[in-house]
Amino acid sequence: MCGILGYVGKGRPFRDLLGGLTRLEYRGYDSCGIAAIKNDKLFLKKRSGKVNQLKKDLSKSLKTVSSLCILHTRWATHGKPNRANAHPHINRESNLSLVHNGIIENFLSLKKELLAKGYKFSSETDSEVIVNLIDSLYTSSLEEAVLKAIAKLKGSFALGVISSSEPNKLIAVRKSSPLIIGLGKNENFIASDVPAILSFTKRIIYLKDGQMAMLNKGSVRICDIKTKRKVAYKIDTVKIKLEDAQKKGYTHFMLKEMFEQPAISTKILSSYSKNQKVHFSGLKGCETFLKQSKKVYISACGTAYHAGYVAKYFLEKHSSLNLEIDTSSEFRYRQIEMGKNSLLIAISQSGETADTLAAVRQAKKQGAKILSVCNVVGSSLVKESDFAIPTLAGPEIGVASTKAYSAQLLCLFLFFLYFAKLKGAIKNKEYQGLLKSLKKLPSLQRKILAGGKDIRRIAKAFSKFGSFLFLGRGINYPSALEGALKLKEISYIPAEGYAAGEMKHGPIALIDEYRAVVCIAVNDNLHEKMLSNIQEAKARKGKILAIISKGDKQASNLAYKSIVIPKVDNTDLNPFLAAICLQLFAYYVAKNLGCEIDQPRNLAKSVTVE
Ligand code: M6R
Repeated sequence: MCGILGYVGKGRPFRDLLGGLTRLEYRGYDSCGIAAIKNDKLFLKKRSGKVNQLKKDLSKSLKTVSSLCILHTRWATHGKPNRANAHPHINRESNLSLVHNGIIENFLSLKKELLAKGYKFSSETDSEVIVNLIDSLYTSSLEEAVLKAIAKLKGSFALGVISSSEPNKLIAVRKSSPLIIGLGKNENFIASDVPAILSFTKRIIYLKDGQMAMLNKGSVRICDIKTKRKVAYKIDTVKIKLEDAQKKGYTHFMLKEMFEQPAISTKILSSYSKNQKVHFSGLKGCETFLKQSKKVYISACGTAYHAGYVAKYFLEKHSSLNLEIDTSSEFRYRQIEMGKNSLLIAISQSGETADTLAAVRQAKKQGAKILSVCNVVGSSLVKESDFAIPTLAGPEIGVASTKAYSAQLLCLFLFFLYFAKLKGAIKNKEYQGLLKSLKKLPSLQRKILAGGKDIRRIAKAFSKFGSFLFLGRGINYPSALEGALKLKEISYIPAEGYAAGEMKHGPIALIDEYRAVVCIAVNDNLHEKMLSNIQEAKARKGKILAIISKGDKQASNLAYKSIVIPKVDNTDLNPFLAAICLQLFAYYVAKNLGCEIDQPRNLAKSVTVE
């Protein structure tokens, strides 16, 4: 995964550039570093740990102005997170330096060849092989050496390369790992993502796959890495504001992002519905295809997969349509015959998840059309899709996905209403009723957030448990999966999500007085069944935390503690409300345990490697 930032220009202090690098830490944060040309020599500082620690190491040189610089924040793939494996990597003469995001599959054979030529390696990384490979091919032009080197690489790579021999040049390459170029006045940037350069410029070039860019302070030249020919490029102006990627007084990004959910729902509802109808302007050109489509698939990872799973229940409950869903890491290797009338819905916050992109490419090969439901409009996923629904959640920085999840859910519900109507698979009255009830969502979400203090208190009582089981049924089965995922990723407490009906087929063996059992027992058609499951878990001394609808005495009497949500007429709204309760619950448990909420260990926001 990893985050890359590069600079060439009139000069910027290290402090500014490290500030930009901090905004890439969501991509990995186990080690970091900077290489810069200083007094015609290569200056290098790197370490394990986060950018803030690097800033402290550099406290005396934070004002140092650099005109050529590359920076990196790492999520370890090859080799542990220590100083040696941290980027930037340099060649033996210390006149060449490189940052890399991706994986080089043939690095071992290349390393062998380089060792035979006398090269020495000081890290376990695949990336150090690239810098030495470039060195071995470098005669007079860095550009030519990089082109020759990348022709030998197999795998995925976004690269930033500098040399003290050509101190006005920054080389960038993109192959299956994201990279953008930022255009400034007398300065240019490269970065893995927009937030890194937002404080410098809003003029962006999205480098395409298979392209290499040569930047100096006044110009950018882009070529195709195969043909080596110069190609034209488009400059976009991004609309994201720097404030959107800041905490705005909240203790954590995760907390801020949870509290943004009602406003995002309002935005989605007003953008995608008008005069009692759902409308997606971006889908106008594909109505005939959607009408004629025969099969629908959803492919996504993690939280996005859970959103798709909830939406599947919604579609199948309210229309005569159905769909197949799988995690992208499985979907991409399945032997599915997808034909021309198939629609693949790819859901992703980042739009850079390697498995989801691979699933999309696989489906496209078979003739399917791709609809992406994605938060990052400039992402690879959106660019590779036939149609897109932007989820309008704004930058999500906390590694644990919260606002992106509810935005995905709402966009999918609206899309499925639109889709079912288009296909004549839903009754008009039902369509109208559902749309009307979805409009109540923002105020309901606000109510849950206002009750956050109760959830904080309950979370405190549950923080001492060493393991959790999350149970749900029907449309709230995926809510249980999502609740367990949230808790485990930020608190590191083992938590399993299960279909409540499956409990007796195994997990019940785990239940005793040390096991917390979170039961989503809201009012819906399966409520009675959930009550029985609560009874069964309680009989085995499990400590029950029930998410219940207001006024449900039966469930609250059975549970050790309850989190109460408003009772809703349309039970399809329950997953949205349960999600906020479980997000807040996970957040407060993690906070009680003193965990690093926004940047949990071992994780990265955007999983750009398989
Ligand atoms: O960017 P994506 O939505 O494609 O990411 C998918 C998952 O990696 C992501 O949802 C992950 O599971 C979150 N950290 C969960 O909170």
